[in-house]
This record gives sequence, C-alpha cells and structure tokens, in this order.
Amino acid sequence: MSGKRVSHRVDGNKIEITFERGTAVLSVLREDIFNVFVPCETKEHRSKAIEGDKGVPVEFTVTEEAEALVIKTPALWAKVYDGFFVDFYKKDGTLLCADSRTGRIFGSQLSEKFISFLEAEGHDVPDASGFHYPVEIVKTMDGDEKFYGLGDKSGFLNKRAYEYENWNSDIPQAHTESYRALYKSVPFLITLKTAGVYGIFFDNTYKSYINLGKENTAYYYYGADGGNLDYYFISGGHMPEVVEGYTWLTGRTPLPQLWTLGYHQSRWGYESAEDVREVAEHYRKLRIPCDTIHFDIDYMDGYRVFTWNEKDFGAPGAIIREIADSGFKSVCIVDPGVKLDPGYAVYDEGMEQDYFAKTPEGETYVNAVWPGDAVYPDFGNPEVRSWWAKKQSYLTGLGVRGTWNDMNEPASFRGELPADVVFTDEDKKSSHAAMHNVYGHLMAKATYEGLKQADGKRPFVITRACYAGSQKYSTVWTGDNQSLWSHLQMAVPQLCNLGLSGFAFAGTDVGGFGADCTPELLCRWVQVGAFSPLFRNHSSKGSTRQEPWQFDETTIAVNRKFIELRYRLLPYFYDLFHECEKTGLPIMRPLVLHYEDDPETFNLNGEFLVGEKLLVAPVLEQGAVKKLIYLPEGTWYDFETGRPYEGKQYYMVDAPIDVCPMFVKEGGMIPIWELCQYVGEKPYDTLKMLVFPGNGTYLHYRDNGADFAYRDGAYHLYEFSGVPGQKEISVKLLHEGYTPYREIVFETRGF
Ligand code: GLC
Repeated sequence: MSGKRVSHRVDGNKIEITFERGTAVLSVLREDIFNVFVPCETKEHRSKAIEGDKGVPVEFTVTEEAEALVIKTPALWAKVYDGFFVDFYKKDGTLLCADSRTGRIFGSQLSEKFISFLEAEGHDVPDASGFHYPVEIVKTMDGDEKFYGLGDKSGFLNKRAYEYENWNSDIPQAHTESYRALYKSVPFLITLKTAGVYGIFFDNTYKSYINLGKENTAYYYYGADGGNLDYYFISGGHMPEVVEGYTWLTGRTPLPQLWTLGYHQSRWGYESAEDVREVAEHYRKLRIPCDTIHFDIDYMDGYRVFTWNEKDFGAPGAIIREIADSGFKSVCIVDPGVKLDPGYAVYDEGMEQDYFAKTPEGETYVNAVWPGDAVYPDFGNPEVRSWWAKKQSYLTGLGVRGTWNDMNEPASFRGELPADVVFTDEDKKSSHAAMHNVYGHLMAKATYEGLKQADGKRPFVITRACYAGSQKYSTVWTGDNQSLWSHLQMAVPQLCNLGLSGFAFAGTDVGGFGADCTPELLCRWVQVGAFSPLFRNHSSKGSTRQEPWQFDETTIAVNRKFIELRYRLLPYFYDLFHECEKTGLPIMRPLVLHYEDDPETFNLNGEFLVGEKLLVAPVLEQGAVKKLIYLPEGTWYDFETGRPYEGKQYYMVDAPIDVCPMFVKEGGMIPIWELCQYVGEKPYDTLKMLVFPGNGTYLHYRDNGADFAYRDGAYHLYEFSGVPGQKEISVKLLHEGYTPYREIVFETRGF
C-alpha cells in the first residue's frame, strides 16, 4: 500500500484515495468522527463493534492544498499525503495527531553492550531490519501525551510507556502491570496532550499490539496479525465528548434493571442448596442488604450447561424460588464449552445441527474445560446464536434472573485453540485467529437476545471476555483477581479505564477471587465496591470464605455500613445509568475526565468520581488510617459532615477502618432512598435530596426499574435547581409518565 497519491473520488460521505500502490477510503461519519480504511483482507468493514450504518449527513469539503488532500468539516480536518500519511487537525488548525514519517525504529538502535548481554543471557536479539505487523500504523507521540482507555488492561490509569496485546486471555496468575493481555479486547485509546484530546479506535478483531511509547518515546504504534486497517479518529473538544463519540459509534450501556445495582454475593463454590440457603439466611438475619446470589458451576449436572444438579441442589429451581421469597434474585453461570457427551441433549442438538467449531479437516474441534472434553459453539453463526438464545429459557423457566457468561475467551485447558480452527463469521467461514477476540462478545449478544425474548425485562448478562461494543449486551467483571492489596489498588484505574472504554457497568470481585482475604482487605474493598457499578463479592474454591460474617464484628459492621450506603444511594446510581444511556459517560470516572487541564489528575490512581460531583477517595493500603487526597478546583464538602475544603490542593484526611473519604462538589445534590434489604422490599415512594451549597441543577429519573416501558415514555423526570447562597430548591417535572413520589424532602449539608 501507498506510494504517491494518484487520484481521489468522493462518493457520499466516502473519499476514496488511490495511491500508486493501493487504495484507502476516508469516511466522514460525523463532523468529529472520521474513519480510515484500507481493505487489506475484505472489501467491507465487517465490524463486530459497530451496529448498522453510522454515517449521518455532514457538510464537508475536499480540496487539494500544498502537498496534501484536505478533508474538512466544521469540527475536524484530515490531511492525506503521499506515502499514505494522514494527519488530523482541530478546526482551529492545531495539529492533533500525525502519522510518523520515520516509522518504527528497530534493533539497529541497540548498543553493542546490550546486544552482547542479550546473547549471553540466551535472549533473541531484535532484528535490525525490524519486524512489521501485517497491519501497522505508527503515530507520533508528544512529550506530554497521556493514554487512557483500552478496556480492562492491568496496571495504572495512564498507559503511557507500556505495551499491550489484544488477545482475550484467561489468566489465573496474579495480574500485574507486566501482563499485556487480560480477558477483554477493547482497542480504543483516548489521548490527552497540550494540543488537545482525541480518541482512536482500531476496529480489528485479530491479535493486536499497542505500544505506547515503550519501544520509542517518539511514537506509539498499533499492529495486528491480520484483518483490515480500519480505525476511527474521534476528535473531541474535551474528554467527555470523545467518550460520547466513541459510545455513539460502538453503543452505550443500556439502562439496567434496578435490582442489578444492589449488592451481589457469589462464591465458587456454593456446593448445595443448603449452602445457598445458609448464605441467604445470614444476610437477612444480620440485616446486611443483598439482592442477588450467584450460582457458580456446581449447580449444573457434571458441568453440563443448561442442566441442574438435582443431587446437591434439589428439584430444578426449587432453591431459586425459595430464596426469591425473601427477595433474592438468582444469577446462574453458563460457560460456552459443551460437554462432549453423546446422549446429553445440548451436545446432541449441536452435533446434529453442525453448530460447533471444526478442525480444518472438518472434524468437530475438541479441547477441555470444566466438564472435561468439550466442544465450542460457533457463535459467529447467527443460527447458533439464536439456538443459544432460546436455551436461556431453560434458566428463566427455573426463575433465574440473569446469566453469567464465563470462560468465553474461549478458555481451554489443553492449550490454546489453534489459529486455524474453523469458526463462522456471519455468512462466511473464518478462523480462530479472526474470531477469538469476539467469541465472548457474540456469546453475550446471544445471551442478551435470549433473556430479552424469555422475559421481556432488561437483560442482565455478565461476561468475562468481550470486545469493543459488548457494553450494549452485557456488564463485565475483571475476572480472576486475587485477595491482594495490589489488586485492590488496581481495581480503581481498571474500572475507570473500562468506563472510558464504553463499559460503564463493570466491577471487580470484591475481596478478591483467588488467595485468602483478610478482614481489613475486605473492609477496604467493600468501600470501593460500594461505588463500583457492579458490586459483587466473589471468591474461589480453596480460598478463605469471604462473606462478611466469616470475619469479626468490625468487618460485619463495616460491610453493613457500606452496603447500606449503596442502597441509600441507589437513585444516584440509577440516575447515572440513565445519563449513560444518553451520553455514554461512565458511572465511575477518573478525575481527569472532568479536569483534563489539571495535571494533578493525569496519574491519579487512588481516587475517582461517581458521576461528576461525588468524589471518592478510598484507603487502598494495608494498615493506613489516613489518606492523602487531591481535590480539583472548586469548593468540596465532606459528604458526612458538610465540612468545606477548597480545591486545587492536597489534604491528609483521617480514614479509620470504617471511613471512606467522600466529597461533594459545590452545587452538588445527591438523591437518597429509604434503606431496604433488597430492591422491591418496599416501594421507593419518598425521595430525599441531599443539598450542598452552590449553584446546581440535578436531573432525577424514575421508572418501573424492570422492563422497556420507559422507552415508550413510562418514566418521570424531575429537575431540581438550587439558588446560590440559598437553601431553597425548585422542582420541575420535565416528563410525566410514571408515578410521582408521595413525598420529596430536602436535607442541607455544609450551609
Ligand atoms: C473462572 C471464573 C470464576 C469462576 C470459576 C469457576 O475462574 O473467572 O469467576 O468462579 O471460573 O466457574
């Protein structure tokens, strides 16, 4: 590809640019979003992340200027040069992003001393001639450029100076920042620098590599093992607009059912109905609110999906119905691996219909997962997805309220699936190499559709593996973390980056999955969990049990305090999800999202915002009872006491084991509901608005919390407005389609 530019042709919103060797297409999707496409593998995009044709009518011009072809909208310019170098500019002419003219610089740069060291240690010496990926793009990197996003990658908030891979991986070892790939592939970056902010989404499902200045501080690169060069450039005035643009493109987290925002308890494994009953009873007896119990693989008969282990769990669904009487909702795990077992209906049906992945020789491909020998449904085939979708009714028929999709990287205990295992890509044959990273995505999509058909409610799906855009179908958790302080620390940047990457509904296993939790670690983790969009305590077989009562009275009290706080704050979380469906803005946000001009926020890993005005600064270190917090510009009020703090400075605040420092920004209002032990215990018919000083407006949303009637207008939307220096708040009903509150009360703090 490339050489000199020869000609160009405008066709609708597409500009086809012919070079001496090859053709590229630049499309104008929106004023602020361009796509660059080179058909290396297929003529069309075949995106898994983006549904439908996104192009909207846009005014743009295409002109020849100096040495470049210039495409301009009122918001963004692209200049395309000979050699297929593409540079993007803001509307005021500031250069935002340029293709590197030097390309990558390889081993010839290594010193002789280092080469001898590598040889002596038996390491490969990088080839001076360099290695290029079949698809590769190299962009110049500014000295102050920061990188955010990339889904669930380990490490810190700002990804600069690290390298990552997109290859969905089941990693049972402790995740550290040296891991390049975890369970999800979301090749979307937001970069922030003095010149501005932009997003770049590399839509390619093959294994890909992102090196953010680790190879060389002069550039960052993206490479992929195959597929097309297909990337979207999203220019935003500010970071929230980039997130809005990216989620407009790949979809937004839909409004969930209200109960899913409550507290969830899980463990691998509750091995019997008796185990589950005991957990449910403990929660109600100890008056610790809880909505959901998760059933891990032991509820199945020999780990066969869509079956029930009657020996240990009694008649199918009986325990689900029993705990439902005291308000518990049940979520069951479903893995993709179908046990190779002639006579087992799911296996037999799949074999008859030819629904499993194949070897290149045409045999059904077999590997091993929990049930032993297992075969892999070919979710890229629409018929397989609708078969799998229908299977969900087996679970909903038992009273199950949500599906937990696991092991869908796909995991395989006998080594990775070979690259040439045959999968389907909609209407054509494809390979594991091309479909691996979207296996979980397509499984979640099928599950979402199935649950929707089965009960008409807003589907609750949790998936471990996914691709960009899976947020339309599923919430996610960050997989097998461990009960380590470093993993609690990582939870904050990981959830913030997932949020910036479209995954607003995400959580970590509270308390840690592997290894043994301590009382102190659980107390601190529940303080992060209470503010995580998905709030689930989960742990592994063989580890210390992790329900709050497994520890001392303090741990029970701290868990109760923060879980209760979460239940009181449910209307706040629900309002944020309502906003997210409209704007794509996440629930849990790094401070840099709203304070991109404040350098103190660029690498802030230990605190976060919930919405725009609530700042949470949890203690993340063993033994610490004080926390160094940074408050950005403005006046902030301690959530509990109302004490004011002037921003743009650091404070050392007390944070004993039962305190998680929280601050509300001037003009902030926080809606509160009466405490319930679970969603549905009592009607939420009274609203309390906590009002902090300042001039602010707050939108509060209310509907039935369950189905899609809100899309036909069955909701109430209130607007609360404050007046500077006064405590009075005016209330306006912006939309009337549900039932009003019996009472709205106001409580002021900090006046
Ligand atoms: C995987 C999941 C974990 C689950 C276990 C057993 O390790 O990540 O959450 O408990 O499998 O199903």
